[in-house]
Amino acid sequence: MLSFQIMTIRHYLQFNDLSCEDYAHLFGRMQRIKDKFKRYVAYQPLVDRTLAMVFEKASTRTRVSFEAGMYQMGGSVINLTTGDSQLGRAEPIEDTARVISRMVDLVMIRTFEQTRIETFAANSRVPVINGLTNEYHPCQILADIFTYIEQRGSIEGATVAWIGDSNNVCNTWLQAAETLNFTVHVSTPPGYEVEPERAGLVDAQHYREFANPMAACRGADLVTTDVWTSMGFEAENESRQKDFAAWRVSDRLMAAAKPTALFMHCLPAHRGEEVDASVIDGPQSVVWDEAENRLHAQKALMEFLVLGRIHD
Ligand code: CP
Ligand code: NVA
Repeated sequence: MLSFQIMTIRHYLQFNDLSCEDYAHLFGRMQRIKDKFKRYVAYQPLVDRTLAMVFEKASTRTRVSFEAGMYQMGGSVINLTTGDSQLGRAEPIEDTARVISRMVDLVMIRTFEQTRIETFAANSRVPVINGLTNEYHPCQILADIFTYIEQRGSIEGATVAWIGDSNNVCNTWLQAAETLNFTVHVSTPPGYEVEPERAGLVDAQHYREFANPMAACRGADLVTTDVWTSMGFEAENESRQKDFAAWRVSDRLMAAAKPTALFMHCLPAHRGEEVDASVIDGPQSVVWDEAENRLHAQKALMEFLVLGRIHD
């Protein structure tokens, strides 16, 4: 009789799917994998493994970092979009998950409602990674915190100022603050405040809300923001342009933070809207390292979800 070991499947659907201890392991792996990449040392633990990517929204960084990362680790990639798959012709997400997950080793999805990726994961035989939903963007904050650690050391006890929309990226910072024990100062326009339940928060201990963006930046170790109108919310663009006009990260706002404060933005950015060019293109900005680190962070994540904890 054939016997085989069933590995427990772990999905990465939101930041708090992993523990503080898991993250300690992952940040170490990111550094190791990045060092190899920089020294042109091949590292191919995922030979013969396949990643399927499903994009129901546009992407540059997520697509390139997952695709390049999987090839660099020896595996291969299949890219699907709503338009070129049966998802666009109303095949149920449950059926899509059952079929795709019988053929590949790992799935990354970028979609709309979080419930959609949860339904996919509930019907999947292989790990599922959230490549952005309306509610969360965990891979982004994985790379952002790795970038912070590279620049400044542990993020525990630090203060992050979030200026702008309480969107998927903001929600993920808030979950990360609970998991890794730091504080987020959030400043949103009225009507766009944090919704703790939607953000999936346990309590309100790790963030403070500020009506004034400058007050939120005061004493911060990191200032970060994102577009005023996220994908899927385009119908609100006109009203958001007015509502968010005072929530632009400027040199004045950066001056309220610590002199050593970093600036991050997940990108794509709109200079002159949520951030001034002098900030994003200025000396405190680490946005290009942040974008590059998507590659290294997600390689460590894929290794972890497919193979478990590797120490080499
Ligand atoms: N930051 C980010 O996820 O970028 P893309 O939308 O280009 O993937
Ligand atoms: N909040 C943005 C992030 C893009 C990477 C969006 O969802 O469109």
